[in-house]
Amino acid sequence: MASRSLAVIVLAAGMGTRMKSSLPKVLHPLAGRPMIQHLMASVATLEPDRVVVVVGPGMDSVAATVAPVPTVLQAERLGTGHAVAQARAALADFEGDVLVLYADTPLISAATLRRLLDERHAGEEPAVVVLGFKPDHANEYGRLVVGAEGLKAIVEFRDATPSQRENPLCNSGVMAFDGARLWSLIEQIDPTSNSKGEYYLTDVVRLAREHGWNCSYAEGESTELLGINSRRELAAAEAMVQRRLREAAMDGGVTLIDPDTVWLSWDTKLGRDVTVWPHVVFGPGVTVGDRVEIRGFCHFEGCSIADGALLGPYARLRPGAIIGESAHIGNFVEVKASTVEARAKVNHLTYIGDARIGAGANVGAGTITCNYDGFAKSFTDIGAGAFIGSNSALVAPVKIGDGAVIGAGSVITKEVAPGALAVARGSQVEFPEWADQFRARHRGGKE
Ligand code: UD1
Ligand code: CA
Repeated sequence: MASRSLAVIVLAAGMGTRMKSSLPKVLHPLAGRPMIQHLMASVATLEPDRVVVVVGPGMDSVAATVAPVPTVLQAERLGTGHAVAQARAALADFEGDVLVLYADTPLISAATLRRLLDERHAGEEPAVVVLGFKPDHANEYGRLVVGAEGLKAIVEFRDATPSQRENPLCNSGVMAFDGARLWSLIEQIDPTSNSKGEYYLTDVVRLAREHGWNCSYAEGESTELLGINSRRELAAAEAMVQRRLREAAMDGGVTLIDPDTVWLSWDTKLGRDVTVWPHVVFGPGVTVGDRVEIRGFCHFEGCSIADGALLGPYARLRPGAIIGESAHIGNFVEVKASTVEARAKVNHLTYIGDARIGAGANVGAGTITCNYDGFAKSFTDIGAGAFIGSNSALVAPVKIGDGAVIGAGSVITKEVAPGALAVARGSQVEFPEWADQFRARHRGGKE
């Protein structure tokens, strides 16, 4: 088989009106990453020779997201056929297969795309191959009109007859073209032929047929081909992505006690024999080692957790939290931009920010690293094996030496030497029998 060259055009210029959002539709996230990036990742695995993304006016943020992939501007949104035409100059000297993808259909796998490209080279090498699917709710998808000779046309829902609307075979929008024949088809699209007055890409099938060119279709899974036009469809797609991520985690040796309540990000990395209790959220950028136990109601983002650590319930790890081997982070503990070294324990009601907690140190309940003075963030360094008494405030910048002990309720503002005890609080005074006399006096007064 001769090696075929491949160009990909991704359409992302649509307004996304139905989202009712000031954020371009294709930047709405799925599993913590913009939907268009899910699609771009599948595209990248095909190793195409060229990729062009078509964006609309005011969509610099989309261009920045897909960079270094080049974009072309569709200055007026005149329809999907018009959008493809905008990529023509960028692909002027290209001959090969051209794949057209819609950025609002981001869940498609590279394997399905490969299957579609194989179909392009099957039989009589059709000019156009369309990926169809049968969703549970066909809604307003365009429909594939299929006859004995293959694919005959695509009809948009609003232009379809009642009997055409009964047809369950829908247009996913994904199409593979013979690059040598694509542009002549695009040129012939007539915006007056439909009720919306747009240049419909879907018209290329009928136009190809009129030339006597063969068109065909392949059928894909609806779990990969849902189009996202509204917040409801975004939520349905999120559910789909979460299901895939949970299944992949379990297949990789992770116990999810109640999978449906665990929310993962596209890049969550979980080791073997990790156990995740119900109601845990993994934001982007989380790496978890082996044999880690994550109890319920934890929230993590931008952090790493080493082998054998124990977290939660109700632990919050923010960006830059690095949790060492077999360390414990307990309930209502927040850790930000800090390293908690091996076997250290921070078990209750504590804020650790911009700090190092040395190996084996024990941080008592209610300890606060006071890292912020309203202007600058400062660092707290707690040495290995140190013991911080409950309800202590460590006013940064401050350093606690290895093995030092801090008395409960201390406000520590100065460096503590290794092995020392520091106590910084009012000392206790006691007045014997004072309370009894006080009550007796008052009762006596009233009688
Ligand atoms: C489109 C298809 C429909 C198919 C459905 C699948 C057409 C005419 N209809 O309908 O048959 O069943 O997708 O999800 O193609 N876009 C541009 N410029 C434009 C208009 C759209 O770049 O001028 C982009 C959008 O950003 C989007 C994609 O093209 O990524 C599809 O546009 P959209 O308006 O969502 O089409 P649908 O009505 O969903
Ligand atoms: Ca759409």
